[in-house]
Amino acid sequence: MLPGSSGSPHNLMGRVIAVANQKGGVGKTTTAINLAASFAAAEVNTLLVDCDPQSNATSGLGFAKDPDRVSSYHLLMGAASAEEALLTTELEQLWLIPAHKNLIGANIELVDADGREFRMRDALAPLRDRFQFVVLDCPPALDLLTLNALVAADAVLIPMQGEYFALEGVSELLDTIERIRAGLNPALGIEGVVLTMFDDRTNLAQQVMSELKNFFGEKLCQTTVPRNIRLAEAPSHGKAALVYDPRSKGAESYIRLAKELIERQPSAVSSPPSAETIATESAEAVEEIPAAVDAMDKSA
Ligand SMILES: Nc1ncnc2c1ncn2[C@@H]1O[C@H](COP(=O)(O)OP(=O)(O)OP(=O)(O)O)[C@@H](O)[C@H]1O
Ligand SMILES: [Mg+2]
Repeated sequence: MLPGSSGSPHNLMGRVIAVANQKGGVGKTTTAINLAASFAAAEVNTLLVDCDPQSNATSGLGFAKDPDRVSSYHLLMGAASAEEALLTTELEQLWLIPAHKNLIGANIELVDADGREFRMRDALAPLRDRFQFVVLDCPPALDLLTLNALVAADAVLIPMQGEYFALEGVSELLDTIERIRAGLNPALGIEGVVLTMFDDRTNLAQQVMSELKNFFGEKLCQTTVPRNIRLAEAPSHGKAALVYDPRSKGAESYIRLAKELIERQPSAVSSPPSAETIATESAEAVEEIPAAVDAMDKSA
């Protein structure tokens, strides 16, 4: 079943969040999958779009490689509509537009194409009122694929590893965001900066955190994501962490991050669902989420 524009408790215009950082391995895909799954578990229709030829968000949700499947490549090339690319997932309110490694070719194939930076934005436009959140997983490069995601997005969520060189390279990303704001997408905002693989017990981590807080101010998300083995294991089972192990620290942290982002935008979702309502109608696999969220609320 595809989500309709009516019948949803929160049927306002969707918010498009690009998860981007040109640095590799900082937790973009882990964040994209688990944030999208947590939005869906909070009963808001959510679309995850895999914009990376590595296709880790696609395989991480359990979809095997299939060159014949309609994917984000076809969207960028104007060969299929976003509707044709939608896949349902194990979570009732989560949809996926998959990627395939042929997406790497789009960088070259589109080099002289008209409106090459607007392909993703235009492809997603017909779906925007059907999803409350659209999460775009970007590749580790400031290439045309990331550019398309940033032009399609309302805001960028930047995952950063809480390590000594965390800020290294971020000025390049911020410059790119500035340039996009100056031309291709004036409305692009920064959704937040989220610390991933974070171990708050070390002095170094605390120093990095306070440095990032000075630099990003309120944009630094209060929620940090700990290093957690379940987050690393879940994709090999083709599942979001909250399905694989809903009580894990990793799953809990992304549920908390989703709540933080939902609560930050009263205009996108009129009334954020209470912890009690979260996931009550979701797949059986996520039955334990309300308990996990309740536990978090009590400890918060
Ligand atoms: N909080 C975490 N705890 C433990 N392992 C993690 C965590 N976050 C990410 N990982 C692991 O770290 C590796 C890199 O994470 P991920 O693939 O999400 O990064 P990425 O930024 O998307 O990488 P790329 O730049 O290649 O797209 C993966 O093996 C992932 O399972
Ligand atoms: Mg990735």
